[in-house]
Amino acid sequence: MATVFVLNGPNLNLLGTREPEIYGSDTLDDIAGRLEDRARDLGLEIDMRQSNHEGHLIDWLHEAQASDAKAVLLNAGALTHTSLALYDAIRSVRVPVIEVHLSNPAAREPFRRKSYIAMAARGTVAGFGAASYLLALEAVAQL
Ligand code: DQA
Repeated sequence: MATVFVLNGPNLNLLGTREPEIYGSDTLDDIAGRLEDRARDLGLEIDMRQSNHEGHLIDWLHEAQASDAKAVLLNAGALTHTSLALYDAIRSVRVPVIEVHLSNPAAREPFRRKSYIAMAARGTVAGFGAASYLLALEAVAQL
């Protein structure tokens, strides 16, 4: 069965209690459960991970490629706006990477308007809360 990696960066382990007025009250486990349910219907498998460390996300992008994953959904958290290393990692692999955000960074503080992930990703889904992940999975199913 084709696997979709879902990689989550810094502070996303705190979803549910972290600024719920911006990010909603779903935890990362809640989102994983919803993704797994939908993935089953689509004939896909989800491999959901979270790390507060940039290098882990880079290693996992390499692993997605090495294990022939169908795609990667990547919410890089604040690394979105700073990480040239993640930009290079995405460009270094052939596996399609979809940028995901719960909030709409373009409508927030000016420093969130720049995304190194968007510059390398296949596409972006942002601003729909936990549903951003599900919409990105629907996009992957069409690839
Ligand atoms: C986020 C948006 C980022 O700007 C922020 O740093 C996050 C979460 C989102 O999902 O809305 O950590 O990636």
